[in-house]
Amino acid sequence: MQKIVMLTIAAISVFALAACDKGGTAGKSEKAAAVETSGKIIDFVVTQDGSPMPIKPELFDTPAAKEFVATGKNPYIGKQEAIDKGKKLFQLYSCTQCHGGDAQGQTGPSLHGPDFKYAKDATNKGMFETIWHGTNGGMGAKGKGLMDPTDPNNGLMPDEVLQIQAWIRTHGKTTGNE
Ligand code: HEC
Repeated sequence: MQKIVMLTIAAISVFALAACDKGGTAGKSEKAAAVETSGKIIDFVVTQDGSPMPIKPELFDTPAAKEFVATGKNPYIGKQEAIDKGKKLFQLYSCTQCHGGDAQGQTGPSLHGPDFKYAKDATNKGMFETIWHGTNGGMGAKGKGLMDPTDPNNGLMPDEVLQIQAWIRTHGKTTGNE
């Protein structure tokens, strides 16, 4: 009797696994599916203490953001359209108030590099984490839903952070993608 129960459970498990396999990528664009099925989402960590930084995968909703979440590379680096938009966003989100109109530093530090207060900000992944989740030393989180905890619609989308970053990197010698 016990043997039959065990076998039945085994059979159900196999069936369930097979069913899972079939779900998934149908109907999605090839590129999105490629990113999804590669299953690769890089591990983000907060700048405050290096602990894991949870971030909803669905916020990465543009081709550039999807590429970034899979590779840690910012595809907007050197792309003029994104750089122009990034400059506008830098003003719109008052980054200028603390970092200056040209990110040269004011009450907040210069963002030109190559030396950063947080060494990881020399990479685009590291700087993304700093902008998204803030620091302990005077900069609040700017990511969607974090900037103002009472308003989930407030804050920057990942794609916007990448555009701002593309503009910031025009001031330094490194692209952050090395
Ligand atoms: C209220 C002032 C203020 C605003 C607004 C602000 N920052 Fe900052 N930012 C700071 C301060 C202060 C630091 C240094 C934090 C520290 O020492 O922990 C900092 C640090 C940073 C760093 C890390 C620099 C390094 O050397 O590692 C980045 C990147 C950055 N800010 C980007 C931005 C962006 C992008 C915006 C706009 C979306 C922004 N900041 C808005 C005050 C501000």
